[in-house]
Amino acid sequence: MFRLMVGAALSGIITMPFFNSSGFHRTHSERGIDTNNAFFQDLGTNGRTCFSCHRPAEAWTVTPIELRDRFERTAGLDPIFRNNDGSNCEGADVSTLRKRRGAFSLLLQKGLIRVGLDVPANAEFEIVDVDDPYRCGAPFTSASMYRRPLPSANLEFLSTVMWDGRETVPGQAIELDLMTQVRDATTGHAQGAPPSDALVREIVDFERGLFTAQTFDWWTGSLRDDGAHGGPRRLSRQPFCIGVNDPLGMLPSMPGACATRSTGLDPNVFTLFGSWEDSWSAGRRAIAHGEKIFNTRQFVIDNVPGLNGGAGDPVSGPIQTGTCTVCHDTPNAGNHSVSMSLNIGITDASRRTPDLPLYTLQNRTTGAAVQTTDPGRAMVTGKWSDIGKFKGPILRALAARAPYFHNGSAATLADAIDFYDTRFHVGLTRREKADLLAFLEAL
Ligand code: HEC
Ligand code: HEC
Repeated sequence: MFRLMVGAALSGIITMPFFNSSGFHRTHSERGIDTNNAFFQDLGTNGRTCFSCHRPAEAWTVTPIELRDRFERTAGLDPIFRNNDGSNCEGADVSTLRKRRGAFSLLLQKGLIRVGLDVPANAEFEIVDVDDPYRCGAPFTSASMYRRPLPSANLEFLSTVMWDGRETVPGQAIELDLMTQVRDATTGHAQGAPPSDALVREIVDFERGLFTAQTFDWWTGSLRDDGAHGGPRRLSRQPFCIGVNDPLGMLPSMPGACATRSTGLDPNVFTLFGSWEDSWSAGRRAIAHGEKIFNTRQFVIDNVPGLNGGAGDPVSGPIQTGTCTVCHDTPNAGNHSVSMSLNIGITDASRRTPDLPLYTLQNRTTGAAVQTTDPGRAMVTGKWSDIGKFKGPILRALAARAPYFHNGSAATLADAIDFYDTRFHVGLTRREKADLLAFLEAL
């Protein structure tokens, strides 16, 4: 019955465009979108499906606007509102509507799911304190981190699975990482028994076929007119290999890696809207100009752990001719083409908002202490140098899935641009910010 309802609700609308604040986006799949796929089926014991947290209307993630609507329509009983990882605290009291409203506040306000991980055995650090606004009372041997679901689409461009790369095994094909991800999502999010290999394969084949992107802009119209290359169909034909266009020529040995090492960065990562540079339409010129800013506007990239901010990092000293594309280097997808976690400062204590916990981590050898809202990759590797590191995500269909960054700290794309302008002292003018925004909204 449940399956029928989902099928009926989706099969009609799935090929239709989904509206968002700057236009609409679509999903394209050569294999068609079969709503009877196990992706849409109840997999565990708590009523959840992959579709609970990954929806085409929200570019295959979820947004607070829709979640608040879902909460009101179901009195907070839709399966996404479960207290294993949907609530701020594990096992929160969700017995009344009022209690549910409080227990799921981060999910309702910022679309954040709780990722609970234990401090790895033999970690170089220990958690010595936590300022927890929710007073969950969890032991210091674990941490709750609140993160945005990543889109389960455009996966053909991935070099790293999950914000902290915890499903990525070095040297292994991304496809196998995705299979592990399905198993962990089924036993974790859905609290189910381990799924069969056939089921895992069915879901991975399905999600790998999904391409999603903005296709129409309210102001400029179709993003494919007059020689422009927006939209998901074009994206589905974009070639990719791990390491493509990497500025440092990094090339891991793994299935899906490029045949040859990149000889440096071609900063022109996005080549979608160049034909609009001299368009009669001011809106189109703005998007084309924004693309150019993203590709080529130079600023100094300094003190980024993982890149040039710590001992053992591949680059020593500031990168004077930095661009957005130094880190967002995958052609027309915008993620990092190799697995390389970076700390750009999103989790710094100085940026902490009162709704997030603040952890104090102490180095077991040196005694040094650092405060962070999310230890990031360090909770996977146990390494002190990995604190606050995350992957550079794919930058398509952005307009459909605010808020941004792993913790939803940028409510809008304009806020994300302001973050970079401040963090890297880019010095963007108002006009440049507006054009960059128009471009990001058109992705
Ligand atoms: C309760 C919500 C929830 C459910 C249910 C859920 N996910 Fe996710 N998914 C997330 C969150 C949150 C993340 C990011 C977590 C992180 O990186 O730490 C994520 C990440 C992913 C990613 C990684 C994408 C990337 O760019 O690395 C894929 C793929 C994915 N989910 C697919 C699935 C599939 C398939 C299912 C069903 C078997 C599923 N998810 C069920 C919340 C959910
Ligand atoms: C030093 C590397 C680096 C540079 C330079 C950089 N980014 Fe990022 N970007 C990242 C990383 C890493 C993340 C993920 C951070 C997180 O969520 O913790 C990210 C995330 C984003 C996101 C959020 C995507 C999402 O799904 O939430 C946007 C938008 C973005 N970057 C745009 C830009 C723009 C525009 C520029 C140039 C002004 C830029 N980036 C420059 C590394 C970089």
